[in-house]
Amino acid sequence: MRGQMIPITAYLAEKAELVNQLITQVLPKEDVPEKLKEAMEYSLLAGGKRIRPILTMATYEAFGKDANEILPIAVNIELLHTYSLIHDDLPAMDDDDYRRGKRTNHKVYGEAMAILAGDALLTHAFGNMAKYLKHFPNVSLEQVLQIIEEFAHFSGAPGMVGGQAEDLLEQKGKTTFADLVYIHTHKTGALLTFSIRLGAILAGANQKQMEALTTFGKNIGLAFQIQDDILDEIGDSKKLGKTVGSDHTNDKVTYPYFKGIEASKQEVKHLIIAAKEVIKDIGIDPIYLHAIADFLIYREN
Ligand code: IPE
Ligand code: IPE
Ligand code: MG
Ligand code: MG
Ligand code: MG
Repeated sequence: MRGQMIPITAYLAEKAELVNQLITQVLPKEDVPEKLKEAMEYSLLAGGKRIRPILTMATYEAFGKDANEILPIAVNIELLHTYSLIHDDLPAMDDDDYRRGKRTNHKVYGEAMAILAGDALLTHAFGNMAKYLKHFPNVSLEQVLQIIEEFAHFSGAPGMVGGQAEDLLEQKGKTTFADLVYIHTHKTGALLTFSIRLGAILAGANQKQMEALTTFGKNIGLAFQIQDDILDEIGDSKKLGKTVGSDHTNDKVTYPYFKGIEASKQEVKHLIIAAKEVIKDIGIDPIYLHAIADFLIYREN
C-alpha cells in the first residue's frame, strides 16, 4: 500500500534525466573515429528506461546517501547494457529492426560497425568504472577491485553472456523450464543484481544487507525478464519501442510458452512480493526500492 503513495514515475524520470545528461559526456573524446562515435551515441541516446543505474542510485539512497555522488559510477552499467542490446538485435542473434523506438544500430550503421560500437561500449564501461572508482573516497582499493571483478562476473560468461549463449541454444521440446529459469536469471537477472550490489557496496553495506539486497536483485531480475516476455506477446510496440512478437518469430522458449500469460503475470507479482519482503528489516529505508519493484509489475515499456 505504501508503495502506491510514492511518486515513482517522477522519481524514475528525474533519475533517468541525470543519466541522460551524463551518458555521452563520459565517452572517450580523442582518437575515436567519427562513425564509431556516432554509432555509440546513437544507441545510447535513443532512450531507454535507465533502470539499472537507477537501481544503483536507489540502493545507495536507501542507506541515506546522496545518489549524485555515484552517478558517474552507476552510468557505466548503462554503457554495458546498451552494448548488450546492440548485439542482441544483430541478425545472428534476435535479428530485430527496432529498439528504443528507432531503427536498430546495425540497420543504420551496418553489422560490422554495430558489433564494434558494442565492443567499444563494453570496454569503455570497465575503463570508466575504474577511473571514477579511483576518485571515490569511501571505498578501499580492495573494494574497487571487488567491484571490477563482480562487474566482469555478472556481465560475462557466468552471468549475462552465459544467459545469452543458452538463449541461443534453447529449443522448444528440449529446453526444460529449469533451463529457462537459468536463461532469464543470467541474461537479464545478473546485471540487475549487480546494479543493486554496486549501490550497496558503495554505501558500505554489511554482509546481511548485501545478502538480502542480492536476493532482492535476483527476484526482481527474474520478474523483469518474465515481464519482458509477457510484453513481447501482449505489449504495444509503440510504447515498447521494439517489435512485439519477436519471440514468436524466432520461435523462442519464453515464460508464457511454458506457463501462459496469466500464470506468468502471477509469477511476476509473487517474485516482487518476495523481493520486497526480504529487504524490509535490514536497517535501510526500502521505500523507493519497494516502489521501483512495484512499478516493474505494471510497466508497459
Ligand atoms: C531490455 O532491457 C533487455 C532485457 C534485458 C530484458 P530494458 O527493458 O531495460 O531496455 P531499455 O534499456 O529500457 O531500452
Ligand atoms: C535480452 O533478452 C537480454 C539481453 C540483451 C542481455 P531479450 O532478447 O528478450 O531482450 P529484448 O526483448 O530484445 O529487449
Ligand atoms: Mg535476445
Ligand atoms: Mg532480443
Ligand atoms: Mg524480449
